[in-house]
Amino acid sequence: METTVGRLAGKVAFITGGARGQGRAHALRLAEEGADIVIVDLEDQVATVPYDLARDGDLDETAALVEKLDRRAVAVKADVRDQSQLDAAVAEGLAAFGQLDIVCANAGIWSRAPLHELTENAWQDMIDINLTGVWRTIKATVPHLIERRQGSIIVTGSTNAVRGGPGYAHYVSAKHGVMGLMKSAALEYGVFGIRVNAVCPGFVDSKMTDWQGCYEMTTGRPDGTRQEHMRAAHHSTALADVGMLAPGAISEGVLWLASDESRFVTGAIVPVDAGHLALPGFNGSPVISDVAV
Ligand SMILES: NC(=O)c1ccc[n+]([C@@H]2O[C@H](COP(=O)([O-])OP(=O)(O)OC[C@H]3O[C@@H](n4cnc5c(N)ncnc54)[C@H](O)[C@@H]3O)[C@@H](O)[C@H]2O)c1
Repeated sequence: METTVGRLAGKVAFITGGARGQGRAHALRLAEEGADIVIVDLEDQVATVPYDLARDGDLDETAALVEKLDRRAVAVKADVRDQSQLDAAVAEGLAAFGQLDIVCANAGIWSRAPLHELTENAWQDMIDINLTGVWRTIKATVPHLIERRQGSIIVTGSTNAVRGGPGYAHYVSAKHGVMGLMKSAALEYGVFGIRVNAVCPGFVDSKMTDWQGCYEMTTGRPDGTRQEHMRAAHHSTALADVGMLAPGAISEGVLWLASDESRFVTGAIVPVDAGHLALPGFNGSPVISDVAV
């Protein structure tokens, strides 16, 4: 009988923000292809984030789902803002599996406010988690990859890593920063056979986008509904009948970057956005004063 060997057989992936959403979807997709999984999450609230972050039990649920796929999982509660917690998570993963091959720096937050009204704390939390947290994740994992002269690091950007967005300048700034970090890391670690790339998701239906403030943004009304929001999302893609993407859609890009199929790809920005970045610029609510007309 013919046996199928997974594209990641014998590999181990370290994933931040793995309790739910895209991080969980990545864990399950990589496990389906044969990888054992180390997942890390805060499982606690950040005061400046207006929607609930992962809660106690979410990490364990991801681990149980990985184990259902007959792969091994180690779940560690850790904050990407704390280097010692990340280092301890890596040590725990290495103690269990003896190696790391794939690193997904995926943990992130989002919030909204006009640029000049962003609080000091909202700005700082964003930079600390979405930018510095990626640096810390690489810092915690790369010495081991260097030792083994191999590895694939995948940082999670966004279409907002290469394009502006009104009303969340701190997020856009952090994600642009992640692209600089990724490109520099690709150059520094290429000599060790380590690849570093970015997956840039389009609009994804996760808890990050499933709350009233996000519906308000997409519908233009404070009382916009989830249904209207899901419909409005179709304006952000180029593909027929594609609006919000499922978290698992991004996992396919992550899987490709993790696998040997992308062995000659490093320093690259890979959008998985249903054509969002290809859309022509269009101002849906231009200011047209009498003087200007
Ligand atoms: N949802 C979207 O539309 C979208 C679009 C582009 C990019 N992204 C990016 O994708 C990534 C995953 O987001 P998601 O859509 O799955 O949202 P999500 O909120 O479901 O998942 C994010 C996870 O990160 C965890 N996390 C937050 N702060 C943390 C910290 N300090 N330490 C450890 N873990 C922490 C959360 O608890 C949560 O489990 C993020 O980097 C996000 O910026 C999301």
